[in-house]
Amino acid sequence: MLQTELCGITLDNPVMAASGTFGYGREFAELYDINCLGSFSFKGTTLEPRFGNPTPRIAECEAGLINSIGLQNPGVEKVIEEELPHLATIFDKKVMANIGGFSVEEYAQVAQRLDLCDQIGWIEVNISCPNVRHGGIAFGTDPDAAASVIRAVKDAVRKPVIAKLSPNVTDITKMAIACENAGADGISLVNTLLGMRIDLKTKKPVIANKMGGFSGSAIFPAALRMVYQVYDAVKIPVVGIGGIATAEQVIEMMLAGACAVQIGAANLVDPYVCRNVIRDLPEVMRKYGIAELKDIIGGAHNG
Ligand code: DOR
Repeated sequence: MLQTELCGITLDNPVMAASGTFGYGREFAELYDINCLGSFSFKGTTLEPRFGNPTPRIAECEAGLINSIGLQNPGVEKVIEEELPHLATIFDKKVMANIGGFSVEEYAQVAQRLDLCDQIGWIEVNISCPNVRHGGIAFGTDPDAAASVIRAVKDAVRKPVIAKLSPNVTDITKMAIACENAGADGISLVNTLLGMRIDLKTKKPVIANKMGGFSGSAIFPAALRMVYQVYDAVKIPVVGIGGIATAEQVIEMMLAGACAVQIGAANLVDPYVCRNVIRDLPEVMRKYGIAELKDIIGGAHNG
């Protein structure tokens, strides 16, 4: 009754961990059996290894957190040589590969390498990282640039391609439609919202890079609204992300149109949140008279 589907791949339940909050699974697998997840999206992976942005690059604040990690990751070759073989020992489902790049060609190259890995079910194209110059969000705020990345990745792979969108745009449907027309098989949204905090003692921004991506429960209503709009605008499946931390919010996202969801910042507050949300889903479904989760997708649009 929790089963759902994303681009032809069946998920035992709709709950995935969002990229950047679950690494490549190692740390969480020490806490609990991560096979309870529907899946997870691994850390945004680039062609070359990256150390990321200067510290401090994380700030906690009310109802969320700001990060300016800057796509720290070991690079695609190391992920293939070390992380994926280890992942196969702790996770027996398909994983989502989140990829980043600084040019259209780079995205395509990383995608092509990861496309050959059996355990990867989907390629999630991160065109929405707010923390890197000349990459990430630069592609995710311009429909033509987004379309070029998606087209190049589609040409390079056979696995389903999911475009991960930024909330830092005025018309989210325009971005979703551009990605769909460029061949995306699905849309995931939203990445983090650009934000900042200022330290009253130093009177300077808390984050070394001044700004960062804001995520956490405060963005849930905005993310839900965008999922609702994108579901109306495209025919491809939608994955809902943004401030989710409860089973009730998973159901709201699915009623808005998500066929699966990703939990992000909440993993950093409570590492057991994904497991708890999955545990709570049957009870909340019973309470609201829901027999099959997949039957409620987009239900809030009827009538
Ligand atoms: O908020 C984010 N931080 N979004 C991303 O896509 C990447 C991440 C980072 O590494 O900076």
